[in-house]
Amino acid sequence: MPLAIRPRQSHAFFAEVSGIDIRTPVDRESVAAIEAGMDRYAVLVFPGQRISDEEQMAFTRNFGAIEDARGGNVTKAQDKRLVTGMNDVSNLGKDGRPLGRDSRQRLFNIGNMLWHSDSSFRPVPAKYSLLSARVVNAKGGNTEFADMRAAYDALDAEMKRHIEDLVCEHSLMYSRGSLGFLDFSEEEKQMFWPVRQRLVRTHPVTGRKSLYLSSHAGAILGMPMPEARILLRDLTEHATQPQFVHVHAWAPYDLVMWDNRQTMHRVRRYDESQPRDMRRTTVAGDAPTAVQVSAP
Ligand SMILES: [Fe+2]
Repeated sequence: MPLAIRPRQSHAFFAEVSGIDIRTPVDRESVAAIEAGMDRYAVLVFPGQRISDEEQMAFTRNFGAIEDARGGNVTKAQDKRLVTGMNDVSNLGKDGRPLGRDSRQRLFNIGNMLWHSDSSFRPVPAKYSLLSARVVNAKGGNTEFADMRAAYDALDAEMKRHIEDLVCEHSLMYSRGSLGFLDFSEEEKQMFWPVRQRLVRTHPVTGRKSLYLSSHAGAILGMPMPEARILLRDLTEHATQPQFVHVHAWAPYDLVMWDNRQTMHRVRRYDESQPRDMRRTTVAGDAPTAVQVSAP
């Protein structure tokens, strides 16, 4: 069966890929077809891909270098469950059991329930994320995606003019701080130092503009803080209206691949006493969106 990419339902930005086995090397034509599908839709699901971590990383490298995950979490190296190159977005500790209620790792990861774009807190933010569902929840735990191109297009001309050249500060301390997670060590404060990102970005292939929002955004350069926060909140509410959102209910061994430059996502609540084993690989971005200043 040849590779095919077909949109699911009427949602124009979420499509299903069939006719491919990603456990085996993928030819250049197929890689190009998938990239074209990403440019067009922004979120692709590859159902029934029963992959290992090594196979997931090998597939990911077809699309660019794997992002260095350091500086993206409070989990210490010795507590990591997965090998370097794999981002653990499960609710599991190194012992394979669900994290306890007061686990700092768990409380930090609750931030994934806020709308965000992966690694927007890095000077060079992520291009693609690939999330493999190894163990899914019987109920809940859906991932929702928002199309930030459609959200941008729907803004009125006055707002488009107002935000065109704005630059935001993004940090994990802003997203976690908004949930009351505030006890960062000095080392973490350095690691999570805010970076700058344009609020409106342009896709390098399609030329389409999108809103580059994320719960990591917590300030706008040259704008008083409450004014910046309410603008970010208003834009996020606008961008996450149902007409811009697709809800993905996971089946075991779904692999979902999304473009962080064109979408936001969030996970919804689930029974945390049950294992949820989700493993992410991330394709590094090409360039910063704004000129950076270094941490003091
Ligand atoms: Fe994420």
